[in-house]
Amino acid sequence: MAGHELRDLSGKLVNVTPHPTLLLGFPEYREPARRLAAAAGLGYAEVEVHRFPDGESRVRLPPGLGERVILCRSLDHPNDKLIELALAASAARELGVRHLTLVAPYLCYMRQDKAFNPGEAISQPIIGELLATWVDELVTVDPHLHRVATLEEAIPVRRAHCLTAAPLMADFLARELDAPVIIGPDEEAKQWVAAIATRAGLDYRIGDKRRSGDREVEVAFSAPPPAGRNLVLVDDIASTGRTLEAAVALLGATHPASISVLVTHALFLEGTLARLRQAGVSNVWSTDSIPHPSNRLALAPLLAEALSLPSGDRRKTEG
Ligand code: R5P
Repeated sequence: MAGHELRDLSGKLVNVTPHPTLLLGFPEYREPARRLAAAAGLGYAEVEVHRFPDGESRVRLPPGLGERVILCRSLDHPNDKLIELALAASAARELGVRHLTLVAPYLCYMRQDKAFNPGEAISQPIIGELLATWVDELVTVDPHLHRVATLEEAIPVRRAHCLTAAPLMADFLARELDAPVIIGPDEEAKQWVAAIATRAGLDYRIGDKRRSGDREVEVAFSAPPPAGRNLVLVDDIASTGRTLEAAVALLGATHPASISVLVTHALFLEGTLARLRQAGVSNVWSTDSIPHPSNRLALAPLLAEALSLPSGDRRKTEG
């Protein structure tokens, strides 16, 4: 592929050979994106993001983009990130990129999948349509799909990869704890809890959750776990942590050997972690879909497998 001259970020002219496929990270998601590039054998470069004092964003793409580009950014705290993604995708098209993949291990706005009250916007399909306008392919992990069966229904991209961290979690728990009982706080968690329990040959229980507000959650267990066991609460998302806290309060009364928490997406807002520790939780673990001190399971190998690039596109070393 012929090289050409471009200005680098300091304005200097450099001779650039376009990469067949480059993975572009964003500053706040640098480490997981670099791990993914390394696992997939792709070159890594970064989108420069500048936030102006008035709250607007400027994004700048690195030189040397080829026809295929993978944008890698988790969409927690999403409003600014979505706008920046739109700007980056549009700039990439301007620069001749023909195939854009978004790897967003955490996908935002998936929980508002119906109008829970009259007049509410149904965020899931609205944001889904936007994402599908910007990118051709999407890779994500354990998206909150409750009322739709497939990821494509929510995000109508040409190709959608809906991955699950359940096998990683099952193997992790088998190494960490002796015969734990897996606990899902609500029916929606059953898909992950059952998959983990089946793979690891473990027992599980599912609770019944009622949420009456952002921070008002009640959980009940019609069949509590037996006493004296290691319990692991598993959920897709820990946001305010109220779901986990409500479940921990009940499970503590069953005299367990220990209570641990394992989630895919560690938002853990508003001092959740400290409150869980105070409530007697021994371990809080998560995947690295969102950077957080509880991250213990790297998603890079799983994500790399899904990046089904034509042969020849994978590079041997990180660029
Ligand atoms: C909702 O159904 C999800 O699966 C989680 O249970 C929920 O998002 C957790 O939210 P929070 O941590 O705010 O209770």
